[in-house]
Amino acid sequence: MSKILITSALPYINGVPHLGHMVGCLLPSDVYARFMRMMGHEVLYIAGTDEHGTTSEVGALKEGLSVEEYCDKYYNQHKATYKAFNLSFDCFGRTSSEQNKEITYHIFEQLDKNGYIEERTIKQVYSVDDKRFLADRYITGTCPHCGYDKARGDQCENCTKVLEPTELINPRSTISGSTNLEVRETKHLFLNLPKIEKDLSEWVAQKEPYWPDVAYSIAQKWLKEGLQERCITRDLKWGFPVNKPGYEDKVFYVWFDAPIGYIGITKQWADEKPEERSWQKWWLNADDVRYVEFMGKDNVPFHAIFFPAMLLGTKEKWTFVDYLKGMSYLTFEGGKFSKSEQRGVFADKAIEEFPADYWRYWLMANAPEASDSSFTFDGFVGTVNKDLNGVLGNFVSRVLKMTASKIGAEVPAGGEMTSVENELIANLQEKTDNYLRYMENMEFRKALAELRAIWVEGNNYISVTEPWTVIKENPERAAAILRVCINLIRIFGILSAPIMPTVAQDMLGKLGLSIDAHSGLKGFNIADEIGYLKPGHKFEVGEPLFERITPERCEELKAKYGSKK
Ligand code: MF3
Ligand code: ZN
Repeated sequence: MSKILITSALPYINGVPHLGHMVGCLLPSDVYARFMRMMGHEVLYIAGTDEHGTTSEVGALKEGLSVEEYCDKYYNQHKATYKAFNLSFDCFGRTSSEQNKEITYHIFEQLDKNGYIEERTIKQVYSVDDKRFLADRYITGTCPHCGYDKARGDQCENCTKVLEPTELINPRSTISGSTNLEVRETKHLFLNLPKIEKDLSEWVAQKEPYWPDVAYSIAQKWLKEGLQERCITRDLKWGFPVNKPGYEDKVFYVWFDAPIGYIGITKQWADEKPEERSWQKWWLNADDVRYVEFMGKDNVPFHAIFFPAMLLGTKEKWTFVDYLKGMSYLTFEGGKFSKSEQRGVFADKAIEEFPADYWRYWLMANAPEASDSSFTFDGFVGTVNKDLNGVLGNFVSRVLKMTASKIGAEVPAGGEMTSVENELIANLQEKTDNYLRYMENMEFRKALAELRAIWVEGNNYISVTEPWTVIKENPERAAAILRVCINLIRIFGILSAPIMPTVAQDMLGKLGLSIDAHSGLKGFNIADEIGYLKPGHKFEVGEPLFERITPERCEELKAKYGSKK
């Protein structure tokens, strides 16, 4: 047993996550956490909302809420949605917590003490009426390139050109509309990355065999181009006030305290049960911890370069990422998900349409790993009908119905295993070993293809052995076949549990069992497991596991979620 720390990139607080966000880090990290727990490891699985920064201030302003109210509102929404998706966090916390503030301050103080923090004077737009410096995107004006009159200080949304706020014609404050703006000099704090670069390259070099190619090559590219000093403070109200004299009216930049949030949230978790938990066991001098991070590929530089650099600069022994799983993007019907254009399925709506496990299965089977993948309703409906209903659901209901009607609702007695069963066992063992290995390596598409192939073996077995025919001539033999099949239901349920936890429980529930300590996956041995349920063990036929989706419903879904636009 080892200690495995697992984190998912912390979703921005503003707005509801869509399926792309779900498969980009939250869902795969959950599948992996569930899997590693079933392998007998001690897992700590951490995520939370990323709350600071300009977008929260702007969002709150739009909704007429205080930033605190705004964040509370969306924090609760995120939390409820992830619960509905069955994400098994040990703690889903917030980057705005007191715990995170404490650790952010500590890390900053260490960096400062070790000489990695520099003061620089820069020129910035000051709004006299608002009495504050304005972040670039808090300035609105006319675009010098296309004439669009609502261009932002960082970029024109209309022609997409990147702008400097001073280029805008008739600039005004987005907050108050005031045009009483001045360019003033202001001091900011910078992290001296060039000074940490050597330590960082050494650290990255030592990682090569452990990182998937994409993450490693992104890290190498950044190092090759040379690191620049990075500004870590901002002129905002919302954030952690900088704990350095002369900077009290500034806050830390959101990307400074966000990754520290992994540590802060661990402390949140530990504080809730202080007698037996300690966050340091996972994060400081924790030689026995393996740390795995999940994130979208756009997040890789922050996790492979900036966050490790921050930790290295403290000269303390923090837990550094051992394996970094960077996911590609999911598109929606070939295009982009867009809240404003009402295109795409958002997580809260997804759950109103179908149970979480349908989405969990489809998303993991089609996870954007090496390259982007596309969600389509045709594909989704096909998968639910063919793989879930046709292969898994059909096997379960056929076996239980047949046994209940021909023999009775309990595991039948009599008969023996033959060479057909020995072959089945060998075959399933090979596929199970592959499945476990792929899951361990976080190769999710391959893992799910193997899982499906395992279910297919069940169907093949019952087609070849034909218990419904055999029972007329040789009831003993039919009993042996059906006993194997009922045991397969339990086996399929346990193997599917990390991906479809509710369906797995339904399957075991039919057999009067539950997913618990006996459902371990370590060294899962088919020859043993196939004899787990003994003759006389009661079962219940119950409801079908899955609902079939009709072509009409599929068309309705396409129209409702904007596939045709
Ligand atoms: N909020 C960021 C995003 O969604 C991810 C932050 S990850 C963290 O892209 F580690 F910085 F928290
Ligand atoms: Zn423009």
